[in-house]
Amino acid sequence: MFIYELNQKYLLLALRESGLKKEEEHEGVVMSVTPPLHDHFALVKAVYEVVDPKSITQTYKLFHHKQYWDVLFDQIPGTPVVSHPEIEVHLFKRKKQLFVTKKIWETTDDLNARKNQARPWPHPTTLDPVLAKALLNIASPKKTFLDPMCGAGGILLEACLLGLQTTGIDLYAPMIGRAKENLAHYNCNATLLIKDFREHQGCYDAVVTDLPYGRSSKTSGENLFAELLAKKFANKQIIITNKPFRNLTKDIIEIPMHKSLTRYVHFFV
Ligand SMILES: C[S@@+](CC[C@H](N)C(=O)[O-])C[C@H]1O[C@@H](n2cnc3c(N)ncnc32)[C@H](O)[C@@H]1O
Repeated sequence: MFIYELNQKYLLLALRESGLKKEEEHEGVVMSVTPPLHDHFALVKAVYEVVDPKSITQTYKLFHHKQYWDVLFDQIPGTPVVSHPEIEVHLFKRKKQLFVTKKIWETTDDLNARKNQARPWPHPTTLDPVLAKALLNIASPKKTFLDPMCGAGGILLEACLLGLQTTGIDLYAPMIGRAKENLAHYNCNATLLIKDFREHQGCYDAVVTDLPYGRSSKTSGENLFAELLAKKFANKQIIITNKPFRNLTKDIIEIPMHKSLTRYVHFFV
């Protein structure tokens, strides 16, 4: 049995990224028999394995529910230490049952180091790197990836770091320059094209893109969305907008960002 600790801010996406069941979620924690599928989750904070306390023979440090310490002390043969433990023992309580676990995985990816303000060219509407990486994990391209409206390259950056052959398109030349600088800052490299995606031909494993939030129907909204789908760049596409297009798919997750922005993530996967 495994216990997954999920990012509560993006809970629905976290469930989707990890393949866990919504019904099993309780306060951002899911118990599951499924071992972790990979180790590049963006929205899973840590994974714990339920163990028999008697099997803990290493040096260990105890976390959560320290009130059970007295009971456990006699059961765990290992040595409790304050620093540098060989394993971390975490306790979880579910429906009055206490689970003794050891941490088997936690994220080591410092996504904060890539947040908008940390980049040479911040962009006001750029996606949080946590969100961008989670969407890429959900689309799970094997090798090739396209962002046909890449802006300053927030999604491209995560795609490059996942080791994908990455292509970014933007019709605004200065934006491509910014994407290039942002990628170089993290030693990343992508094929960057200054053009209208409507004039581009190509076939990729997946598309993840964030549509412009303007009001002109030519450069934003349903027209642009429909034109992008018509290009059939990939079998798996995830398209983000600031309003829902329920006529194009029913598979939408709504993410309130702040007072004046809600993102709608449309899945074609
Ligand atoms: C919301 S921004 C993308 C932000 C990006 N995800 C980031 O992290 O910086 C949308 C981008 O789409 C570009 N764009 C709009 N229409 C386009 C088109 N027809 N072809 C290519 N790019 C386009 C705009 O120039 C803008 O940079």
